[in-house]
Amino acid sequence: MKKIIGLMALTLSSVAMAAPASHWLTVDNQVLSKIRPKLNKSVQTVFTAEGASVVKLSESEIEQLSHVIHNELHRCGGFIQHDSLEDAKNALTSQGDIHFAKRAVFSDYTINQTSTVVPMVAQVSDTSIRDMIVKLSSYHTRYYKSETGVQSSQYIRDTWAALAKNRTDVTVELFKHKSWGQASIIMTITGSETPDEVVVLGGHADSIAGASGGGAGKAPGADDNASGIATITETIKILMNSNYKPKRTVQFMGYAAEEAGLLGSKEIAALYKQGGRKVVGVMQLDMTLNKGTADKDIVMMSDFTNAAQNEFLGRLIDEYVKVPWGYSRCGYGCSDHASWTANGYPASMPFESTMGDINKNIHTARDTLESAGGDAKHAAKFAKLATAFVVELAK
Ligand code: BES
Ligand code: ZN
Repeated sequence: MKKIIGLMALTLSSVAMAAPASHWLTVDNQVLSKIRPKLNKSVQTVFTAEGASVVKLSESEIEQLSHVIHNELHRCGGFIQHDSLEDAKNALTSQGDIHFAKRAVFSDYTINQTSTVVPMVAQVSDTSIRDMIVKLSSYHTRYYKSETGVQSSQYIRDTWAALAKNRTDVTVELFKHKSWGQASIIMTITGSETPDEVVVLGGHADSIAGASGGGAGKAPGADDNASGIATITETIKILMNSNYKPKRTVQFMGYAAEEAGLLGSKEIAALYKQGGRKVVGVMQLDMTLNKGTADKDIVMMSDFTNAAQNEFLGRLIDEYVKVPWGYSRCGYGCSDHASWTANGYPASMPFESTMGDINKNIHTARDTLESAGGDAKHAAKFAKLATAFVVELAK
């Protein structure tokens, strides 16, 4: 009803006459307290729960908020936009699901597939990861509403399908979304013994440039997130070359429209919950290219993730990757893992650096392979971890 009135107002009267639309955002309280002094007095906090607040803003106030976060905290985003106050409140208060997703233990995390995993991780090739990054970042943009955004997702589907061409137990599909053109990509290896239990390895396929809009500008998104997709592709390649057959079902996902508010993964994770699907573990790879922190190679985001699974990842790194690792926090639902957590599923997000050392070039035309060091040696560590995660969890 609201929507119809809004439409009539726009079509029957002039745009200038329409009341400024309100938006509801959820913001981490630590972020909010740092930026509050710089914001308009009119910005109201409507609701606070579990370390975050719902704030009501107009379009121009959202722009101001983005700028303040950018200037004060030197990062992008930091908030999630919701369609209604109800959605925003639900995001903070569906604590049942979220608490469960963070605290429950969803699997046996014993590590005992050494003889399978060790030869696999030895095959990880940083040059093959680099080639995929170069290809994906050669699209002008992978923006979710652009023609090249549609094409780049088809390219990922074709690449994954070619890797699986000799397998009858593997499918590669485009997951179409109603409201925009870019599809998500889902590759499935059906489990041989417990196919109802699903392990997910995912990352977002889209890119964006600029704080507002972002449709037309050049958005190579080499680090954010051609790197995650290329890392997943390397894992798929090795698993297929090894004729790997899991007992549980394994799904590889390239999500559409993450940069527009986790839109693709939100739809998929909600559908899985609605269908009662048993997802036993999710790994999100979003930015694996740029080594930003001197003494930590892999940094796990501890918020919006499952504690027991994170600890399992730490042991996998020690066993199979043998690089220094640690923890950091996004402070908000910064990537698609948050969509799985919101729907009650256990997720982890191993990341390229701490939050304090993030790649300053993301969401600009400067997010290129060259500006992130020119090779994919850092990403190769994540391909090893992702391969170990799949084999040790889907057994
Ligand atoms: N890859 C980023 C998330 C990220 C950036 C994590 C820096 C850690 C450090 C992701 O693609 C992104 O841009 N997320 C948005 C939020 C999302 C809800 C639209 C962001 O951080 O602004
Ligand atoms: Zn991004």
